[in-house]
Amino acid sequence: MKLLVTGGAGFIGSAFVRVTLAERPDVHIVTLDKLTYAGNLENLAPVDDHPRHRFVHGDICDSSLVASILEEAGSDAIVHFAAESHVDRSILSPDPFIETNIRGTATLLDAARRAKLGRFLLVSTDEVYGDIDAPLEADETFPLKPSSPYAASKAAADLLALSYVRTFKLPVVVTRASNNYGPYQFPEKLIPLMISNAIEGLPLPVYGDGMQIRDWLYVEDHCRGILSVLEHGSDGEIYNIGGNRALTNREVIKRVLEIVEAPETLMTTVADRPGHDRRYALASEKLARATGFTPQMTFETGLGRTVAWYREHADWTRRIKSGEYREYYNRNYGSRDSAVPAAAVK
Ligand code: NAD
Ligand code: DAU
Repeated sequence: MKLLVTGGAGFIGSAFVRVTLAERPDVHIVTLDKLTYAGNLENLAPVDDHPRHRFVHGDICDSSLVASILEEAGSDAIVHFAAESHVDRSILSPDPFIETNIRGTATLLDAARRAKLGRFLLVSTDEVYGDIDAPLEADETFPLKPSSPYAASKAAADLLALSYVRTFKLPVVVTRASNNYGPYQFPEKLIPLMISNAIEGLPLPVYGDGMQIRDWLYVEDHCRGILSVLEHGSDGEIYNIGGNRALTNREVIKRVLEIVEAPETLMTTVADRPGHDRRYALASEKLARATGFTPQMTFETGLGRTVAWYREHADWTRRIKSGEYREYYNRNYGSRDSAVPAAAVK
């Protein structure tokens, strides 16, 4: 199979490229990535000279580039990861989210239709369902109630993709995963930010009371779930991919502090994220029934491996944390309330 993987220099996309090349000897991959602040060729260094991999630097909104790649590579399928992916950045500046997540997805769908591809897999998110009240779990039939510009742009992409199934018979499948963690994650997201700040002895910013709940999925489990849908999913279907590990943010941060052996006093309450979703919860039985896939990594082992990776790759983090990252960090955290010790919040 010949795949076009978009966003393959990012966190999950690069893991997908590495896992797929290692575990599927018959798959050839072209990676298309714009190398935004989140894209990093170092994430693809392990497959630099791989004979079944080629990297193309470019934008998914560039329709002639996309069409020429599909034709030259003779692609059978697109696995579409490329996106602006961080909720806080979408609150600061929504425009790139509208452009890449909606316009970019539309460009790829149209190119796939013209090239008559056999499969289009859209990598989506549980954030499209919005807040889920306990004890409910969102299955694939739940209404879309996105809360942030990021989540709304992903929901728009989902709907556009599903319209191509009905109208153009494009063989689309959509996956909606919960919060990922693991090596190579950009240190703007909760777990890598907390790990890298804890290692450096910097404050760990907790939004609001820190009792928001997320369901954690190890990135390689997510990639294997995507492969299972690519290979065994049915056209026009949506598949949730959950991690079966719901934790409050405070629980996650405390575990990070324990592993890093940093003091809890580093936890610092800051102003909450506007529109912050309280709880995500996914029902993933459909995926297990259809493909037999269930996640394998326990949170304890996965978090330990992740902390070890960040310790061993201090240079990777240091390079990211200079430059654009500082400007973003000041914009996002500089304007939040002054610090209140998290221990004071029950
Ligand atoms: P990321 O921000 O780490 O990587 C995104 C990649 O897309 C980067 O390499 C970036 O350069 C590339 N990109 C951005 N705009 C582009 C454009 N216009 N053209 C080409 N490339 C472009 O994101 P991630 O966390 O790896 O997420 C990947 C996908 O998975 C996204 O679609 C995201 O919505 C989805 N997702 C993420 C999570 C999570 O927890 N991180 C969970 C569920 C779903
Ligand atoms: O659920 C899937 C989604 O998970 C993906 O679609 C997104 O691409 C991905 O970014 C992630 O979104 P979240 O907003 O859930 O992840 P984030 O890591 O930004 O935040 C996780 C939780 O931690 C959330 O409740 C906000 C909180 N948080 C986050 C940061 C960055 C903090 O308390 N402090 C922080 O500094």
